[in-house]
Amino acid sequence: QKATRIAPSILAADFSQLGQEIQRLDQAGADYIHVDIMDGHFVPNISFGPSITKAVRPVTKKPFDVHLMISPIDLYIEAFVDAGADIITIHPEAGPHFHRTIQLIKSLGVKAGLALNPGTPVDIVDHVIDDLDLLLVMSVNPGFGGQSFIPGALGKISALRNKIDALGKDIDLEVDGGINFDTAPLAVEAGADLLVAGTATFRGGPDNYANNIKKLKGQ
Ligand code: DX5
Ligand code: ZN
Repeated sequence: QKATRIAPSILAADFSQLGQEIQRLDQAGADYIHVDIMDGHFVPNISFGPSITKAVRPVTKKPFDVHLMISPIDLYIEAFVDAGADIITIHPEAGPHFHRTIQLIKSLGVKAGLALNPGTPVDIVDHVIDDLDLLLVMSVNPGFGGQSFIPGALGKISALRNKIDALGKDIDLEVDGGINFDTAPLAVEAGADLLVAGTATFRGGPDNYANNIKKLKGQ
């Protein structure tokens, strides 16, 4: 388990100045930029798509951690690679063949992640884990920021930590949803090394981003 890193979710940013918000996150010590893509079909909310992702890509060198909550999915992978995604994370329920989708992502030279909803069992990773660079445990049902952390995620994080360590592979173990100053240490203790935080990063406005990120890291 590596040192705790933070991936602020720009879903909680001020969209009228998205580029500037991402620059502020960069300067405030964000490790990755978490980009939530929602289609109003796979999840009951719509965020934005590849063109906005591409428009803000040049403002930082930090990795873009693109979380796709869309269905169908294979059709859009190339567009997000072209938009500058460094990691593309998919949900196994987003299409009929998630093994194929992972191969597609890897074939385009981008890192691949698999996201597990609160109701999705951890064993779903077993036959694809060799091809993965990131595992994402959803600690809320996807679709909205600002929801409460579901404690059942902790057991899943521990189980996946064991799988990753047994394999000895460099896989990020990320947790997403309801991460705040109280739940961050629980997720880290369970084995997470990458924390997505929307509401908690942006709390109090731009002057507080750096301190919020520091506190989420447990510093
Ligand atoms: C939920 C998204 C999350 C969300 C997290 O569907 O995947 O990334 O933005 O927001 P907070 O940190 O506010 O729970
Ligand atoms: Zn997300």
